Amino acid sequence: MVNEFEIKKQICDIGKRIYDRGMVAANDGNISVKISDNEFLCTPTGVSKGFMTPEYICKVDANGNVIQANAGFKPSSEIKMHMRVYRERPDVKSVVHAHPMYATAFAIAGIPLTQPIMPEAVIALGCVPIAEYGTPSTEEIPDAVEKHLQYFDAVLLENHGALAYSDSLLNAYHKMESVEFYAQLLFLSRQLGGPKELSDAQVKRLYEIRRQFGLPGKHPANLCPNAKDGKPSCHGCGGNCTCGKDGGDDKALVAEITKRVLEAMGK
Ligand code: 13P
Repeated sequence: MVNEFEIKKQICDIGKRIYDRGMVAANDGNISVKISDNEFLCTPTGVSKGFMTPEYICKVDANGNVIQANAGFKPSSEIKMHMRVYRERPDVKSVVHAHPMYATAFAIAGIPLTQPIMPEAVIALGCVPIAEYGTPSTEEIPDAVEKHLQYFDAVLLENHGALAYSDSLLNAYHKMESVEFYAQLLFLSRQLGGPKELSDAQVKRLYEIRRQFGLPGKHPANLCPNAKDGKPSCHGCGGNCTCGKDGGDDKALVAEITKRVLEAMGK
């Protein structure tokens, strides 16, 4: 039996941690936790996540409809994004969205985190792709994020921020911390003349260690078509592990050519 009040307190604690670490400004960011197949606790919209108390936390169903919310509180405007993650990833029990400084800078510059520069990032994340820009609160962000959900446990949101998810609230938060630390190190090492990347063989050994540890979640070590092709890492995908899947690139190219031919024919 889940103790809802306890989980609400934990959400407040993680909100404070995110705020105190400067991973969000003002009222930014949102957090949710799955408590049953059709019940989720989530942060309310428009409040500082650094100063929440348990009565702020709302309860919604799998469609994001309110089950319970105290007067003056409505669920996060990004609840659709959270619900899409839960729908596509039954293993996920918590979703954290934030705007950490360095990760968001990469998301704004349109640069995915794909350089293998330190063992922890390679083991925990592999790489972090960018989901194409979408208008907040619409289905555009969930649609953009969905493409990456089966390959990664964290994505950058273009011109917006970052999203991380895992099998517990603490692990989802830790993913977010790892994304930001990775982005920060990548940024700083680029200022110092560019990182010395781990070799393909070193990455392959780290992927092997991840497999041996049996770490939960999705990771390109297990799923990237590149890795399955015998290439040791997903890093050649530019952070997009869907490349090459079912001839995905070819299909997209054929669709684009067909569209342009039809346009040229005035259809
Ligand atoms: P909410 O306060 O509605 O959760 O939105 C914050 C945010 O960061 C939107 O991207």
